[in-house]
Amino acid sequence: MQWVKRTLIGLVVLGGLTYLYYTEVKPVVIFGLREDYAHAIPHQKVPDGLVSLKAEACGVCHVDIYNEWKTSIHAQAYTDPFFQAYWTKDKHIWVCLNCHTPLENQQPTLIKDIPRDRVERAVQEPNPHYDKEYQQEGVTCAACHVRDGVIMGPYEDAKAPHPTKYDPTFRTAQLCQRCHSVVGGPAQFYNGGPCGTYPEYEDGHWKKERGFICQSCHMPEIERPVAIGGPVRQGRQHLWRGGHDPAMVKRAIDVKIVADPAEPKPGDKVRVTLTLVNAGAGHKLPTGDPDRHFTVEFAVEDQKGKVLEQQSDTMGRWILWQPAIVELHDNRLMPLAGRNYTFEYRVPKESSGLKLITKVRYHIQTEGQHQMLIDKYGLTAKDPYNFIVYERAAALNGNLTEAFAQSVAETHLACATPGHS
Ligand code: HEC
Ligand code: HEC
Ligand code: HEC
Ligand code: HEC
Ligand code: HEC
Repeated sequence: MQWVKRTLIGLVVLGGLTYLYYTEVKPVVIFGLREDYAHAIPHQKVPDGLVSLKAEACGVCHVDIYNEWKTSIHAQAYTDPFFQAYWTKDKHIWVCLNCHTPLENQQPTLIKDIPRDRVERAVQEPNPHYDKEYQQEGVTCAACHVRDGVIMGPYEDAKAPHPTKYDPTFRTAQLCQRCHSVVGGPAQFYNGGPCGTYPEYEDGHWKKERGFICQSCHMPEIERPVAIGGPVRQGRQHLWRGGHDPAMVKRAIDVKIVADPAEPKPGDKVRVTLTLVNAGAGHKLPTGDPDRHFTVEFAVEDQKGKVLEQQSDTMGRWILWQPAIVELHDNRLMPLAGRNYTFEYRVPKESSGLKLITKVRYHIQTEGQHQMLIDKYGLTAKDPYNFIVYERAAALNGNLTEAFAQSVAETHLACATPGHS
């Protein structure tokens, strides 16, 4: 009966270890804490000379900047239906707020202690200064600009009705790092953090060879008065376009298509190669949220639009989420890197009227994720969660390479003019 006893002891030990793993090791969120975003930006009071910290109040004088910010995803970082659905899935855990509504003034509770960095064990107290309306503003002006009653900015000579202080970090990528470099936690095995845009940028071409910062592409340069009645200055538009903007995603990619043979005859096997290049993103393509991915799609259709053959390849990262987070594969493209996708097709005897269609599609989420958020977590977004960023068609009974090349010319490089940073 010795083996029964041993098995029982074994089971008890295994159960104990599993319990410890889930309560002490396995994190409750898909990322780890880092000193800078483990805490909210401390409470800010209204700077002298102003009546409110709210974006709208800044907008009275900074009209253009306010109007730009309002259209940006930063202004929607809290109200964003995708954020709300995932936040509901994560039981409204406080730590998300440190980037999505980063000021203490915007948060309902104060975090007094985080024992052993376990976010679910944080000691919380109601925040007497919590402003629910302010929370709606997400990444608001003061998140980047207000510290200790002073407005921080990129100029050394501003003459403003509020206190100002020159802060050189506004013209560096560091300003973006706090929130755009989400690291993995203990017992999470990522190749780079779950939303590691900053480290991808640091290792890439645009920083190393060209001196670009995030702002070079995400906050286009402009000359204008930055406040009503102020002098014309060189500043930047507060737009931050990214994955929610088809035009921005289009600027990231360059596509070339070659067919072999170029002019296939009926009965030939034609091999079509689509080369996808990360021509304009300063980090991996795609970046950010690990749900983001691209598909490269080929299809042969007849005159009636009936699909005779199709193929779809995915570019993104594959992560095993359960029972532990392990990144299995990442085939995203670093800046200026490219990859070939090939499709082979035997041209039938009767090929007139057939056309070959190629598409590159950007996905904010998969069908499965999207449906899960609708079914279980109240997602109501009407926003598209995938869109086509490249599409070309060519008749199968002509010169395919030429037909594709003629329509390709319009894709071009991203963002800023060379040399600007
Ligand atoms: C009553 C008008 C007014 C209001 C309200 C106002 N500002 Fe200003 N602000 C100015 C003027 C004028 C300047 C100086 C412009 C210049 O020198 O070109 C300025 C300058 C700035 C600068 C540049 C500072 C530097 O040193 O680089 C920033 C950043 C700024 N404001 C942010 C804000 C924010 C954020 C708010 C709201 C919390 C706000 N302002 C509210 C008028 C205003
Ligand atoms: C206080 C935190 C914070 C800082 C600082 C910050 N961001 Fe963001 N940013 C966010 C959050 C949160 C989102 C996602 C909002 C959402 O979709 O719910 C975001 C989204 C974005 C997007 C994606 C837009 C889209 O359409 O998908 C871009 C681009 C971006 N930020 C650029 C920048 C740049 C450039 C800087 C530095 C100048 C910066 N951010 C600084 C928190 C921040
Ligand atoms: C995510 C961070 C972030 C947020 C949010 C943000 N700004 Fe800025 N702001 C910057 C950066 C970076 C610059 C420096 C741009 C440059 O190099 O000229 C800047 C510059 C400015 C300037 C100086 C003019 C210029 O273009 O350089 C003003 C004024 C200003 N911001 C006002 C605002 C107001 C008002 C809001 C809210 C409506 C706001 N900012 C929100 C990051 C931010
Ligand atoms: C050379 C231009 C360039 C530079 C530099 C650059 N980006 Fe981008 N970024 C793009 C383009 C183009 C896209 C759209 C394609 C995509 O989504 O990857 C993009 C997309 C994004 C997105 C959208 C991802 C999502 O989940 O929707 C974020 C966030 C972002 N960038 C942040 C940053 C930050 C932070 C930096 C600096 C560390 C930076 N970018 C530097 C060009 C650039
Ligand atoms: C360290 C800062 C940080 C923390 C903490 C954080 N986020 Fe984000 N989140 C971002 C940034 C930056 C983006 C936009 C760029 C990207 O996709 O990485 C983003 C994007 C998102 C998006 C995609 C939004 C869209 O419209 O596509 C969702 C959903 C999201 N976050 C949910 C959460 C949830 C839920 C938590 C807490 C469990 C959380 N985030 C914690 C910084 C953060």
